[in-house]
Amino acid sequence: MLGIETSCDDTAAAVVRGNGDILSQVVSSQADLLSRYGGVAPKMAEEAHSLVIDQVVQRALDDAKLTGNDLSAVAVTIGPGLSLCLRVGVQKARRLAGVFSLPIVGVHHMEAHALVARLIERNLQFPFLALLISGGHNLLILAHKLGHYLQLGTTIDDAIGEAYDKTARWLGLDMRKGGGPALEELALEGDANSINFSIPMRQHKDCNFSYAGLKTQVRLAIESRKICRSMENNPISLANLDDRRSRADIAASFQRVAVLHLEERCQRAIEWALKIEPSIKYLVVSGGVASNKYVRARLSHVVENNGLELVCPPPSLCTDNGVMVAWTGIEHFLIGRFDPPPPADEPEDAMFELRPRWPLGEEYSQGKSEARSLKRARVFPSLTSMIQSSDQN
Ligand code: KG4
Ligand code: ZN
Repeated sequence: MLGIETSCDDTAAAVVRGNGDILSQVVSSQADLLSRYGGVAPKMAEEAHSLVIDQVVQRALDDAKLTGNDLSAVAVTIGPGLSLCLRVGVQKARRLAGVFSLPIVGVHHMEAHALVARLIERNLQFPFLALLISGGHNLLILAHKLGHYLQLGTTIDDAIGEAYDKTARWLGLDMRKGGGPALEELALEGDANSINFSIPMRQHKDCNFSYAGLKTQVRLAIESRKICRSMENNPISLANLDDRRSRADIAASFQRVAVLHLEERCQRAIEWALKIEPSIKYLVVSGGVASNKYVRARLSHVVENNGLELVCPPPSLCTDNGVMVAWTGIEHFLIGRFDPPPPADEPEDAMFELRPRWPLGEEYSQGKSEARSLKRARVFPSLTSMIQSSDQN
């Protein structure tokens, strides 16, 4: 299975065998663009994907020593994500599938973050619990079986990765290696108890998340310490020792509280999940932020205290990658969920479906937040409800 991923700022492709062998894995990152423009600008991200997509896919095939003729199918992320970016990957997948007459599997990006854990840990059977933490999503999911997910919690505003990225930018860190990794590194030098940021949403006894308030607390701390003459142009490379120390203290204190919020929500989700599915043995933690060592260490305590096991894919499979898309494609393909090959002569402007806003599962009724924000526009029914209605038919 060839897997193609272009939903956000990484262009990635990989070839994976049905037995889980990874034959190749290629990622081209837009970190440079991100550090220059301070975030993902859709039009620029689209251009960056278009520029490299052919090479990335070709290298994935070359590294695997395969041609399109050797593939069984192509899997590609069709949502959620930025439409302009998703389109680049889907167009490439359809062109290739058309030429070699291959079936296509449309993949849900967040499902792929969760399922890649099953490639790493072969004992990981359904049902299991998953915490998915990335730049755009914060999800607690109970995975009943393939394609059937119950959403125990989500974020009512920003995801944790977004909070890491913003804090890193405000602290003047080198964003070329990514905001999250830069902040994790600086936090090692700081005192995590120096600032008492408050833990979000404690009064809400559910499994939802919020990071917008913590971001504001961080901004106020930075302003009150006057470490930065301006929030936008204050590279840490120019900071003196005291200034660097202050920034490290903020980084460490931010990280402590950002992760405490995850710990508290996971503890409650484990309790809820065990009531719904007492046979659960694993908590999967995946998505870009799961590559953070502090996050992994803290969550492993929570998991152990509850007698469960943590499955956290290696960092290269936590951040966006083609392997997770190929593997999720394999899982669905093997039970017959795929689309027939597109026509070999499909015109460039042919219509196909993208799902930029696409929930993964159905909301757990007790998990709905009273503190709901307005970010609720739903364009598509969830993956799970689509699968349930097609199973009924
Ligand atoms: O899953 P991902 O690669 O892309 C999305 O689907 O969003 O996650 C990207 C996010 C970014 O916000 C990035 O800063 C964060 O994951 N991230 C980290 C670390 N590595 C990546 N956050 C904290 N610590 C890290 N080591
Ligand atoms: Zn992702």
